[in-house]
Amino acid sequence: MSTPHPGGRVLSGMRPTGRLHLGNYHGALRNWVRLQYEHECFFFIADWHMLTTGYEDPSRLPEFVHEVLIDWLSAGLNPGVATLFVQSHVPEHAELHLLLSMITPLGWLERVPSYKDQQEQIKDKDLATYGFLGYPLLQSADILIYRAQHVPVGDDQVAHVELTRETARRFNHLYGREPDFEEKVERAIKSLGGRNTTLYRQLRRKFQEAGEQQALERGRALVHSNNRLTVADRDRLLGYLEGTGIAILPEPQALLTETPKVPGLDGRKMSKSYGNTIEMREEPQSVERKLRAMKTDPARGRRTDPGEPERCPVWDLHKIYSGEDTRKWAAEGCRSAGIGCLECKQPLIEKIVAEVTELRRRAQEYLENPELLRDIVAEGSEKARDAARATLEEVRRAMHLRSD
Ligand code: TRP
Ligand code: SF4
Repeated sequence: MSTPHPGGRVLSGMRPTGRLHLGNYHGALRNWVRLQYEHECFFFIADWHMLTTGYEDPSRLPEFVHEVLIDWLSAGLNPGVATLFVQSHVPEHAELHLLLSMITPLGWLERVPSYKDQQEQIKDKDLATYGFLGYPLLQSADILIYRAQHVPVGDDQVAHVELTRETARRFNHLYGREPDFEEKVERAIKSLGGRNTTLYRQLRRKFQEAGEQQALERGRALVHSNNRLTVADRDRLLGYLEGTGIAILPEPQALLTETPKVPGLDGRKMSKSYGNTIEMREEPQSVERKLRAMKTDPARGRRTDPGEPERCPVWDLHKIYSGEDTRKWAAEGCRSAGIGCLECKQPLIEKIVAEVTELRRRAQEYLENPELLRDIVAEGSEKARDAARATLEEVRRAMHLRSD
């Protein structure tokens, strides 16, 4: 079967923190929107992850999931192209998490940087729980169950993808070789037939003994071009070719895309926990009020004092929203005290008001038709479950558990 999406699956998730802000939009969502047209994409709302820290009061979870979904759709995530779903609607994640927990050394989890960092930072919650320690492994299950190749995430998540790679490697090492692997591989090689059987053996020898990369490529092509092979035999032949056994769980990679730095109103990174955000669907009057009060270069105490854009968070917004001419006007006007800060902010107010107005317009349809949203999630979760089940069956088989 051919796939319309070369380059492997993409998977990412987001915690349901409630309404998303412009930092989420420019930092992640716009990138996802682009990716959905280039790859097969799975995007999910990580409601179980939210419980790993917010277990004391989950009462607003449904509302938060709902808001995030609306923000996703307003941003342009397209349920006709990407698979959008909610983690807890795909319980297969939990089974894989459990199975992976059997082979994950405690030290791997204790060493994940966010484990100690967050325990130190978040003082008002008891994070000495089993769920919190295991949460990066739950994330590994989220990724591995879709055999995703690329995981678009921020810097803070790279260690989690690294853990995922180690976990996959360990799993494949332990279970990737069936007890009768050699026998089954031998049978699969014979089933290639005549010349191809001989060719496969030659290519394998060339790669294994002489490290010829080209032989590996040709060997893979030979296996892939044979559409009479079962999936299991194909995996055996590919694994044997490389000498690794079978990669039941392929290793994913973090996809780090350059995204703009979105400053919050106080100049720190825009973040819900700092209370310095502009929501994606904020009311226009409120956008204007907030921007007018936004922090600028403190050197400009008086209108006649010149400033330095590089020390001003408003300048970071110009980098996102303004064209070259406006940027030049702002930078020169700032350094010469030719313009005031309010003047400098005016074109941004216009751009950002236009942006939120458009996002609000697109959200309207979903706000008016809650059943539309329910259908999108139900359909996405079903699609995700099909993909998740396929992996889980192989995992169960490899671990000698019943598979349906
Ligand atoms: N842990 C991520 C966060 O806090 C969210 C997440 C959960 C995720 N599972 C994932 C991201 C899988 C990428 C892949 O932002
Ligand atoms: Fe910032 Fe613009 Fe004021 Fe300069 S003029 S300090 S760039 S808001």
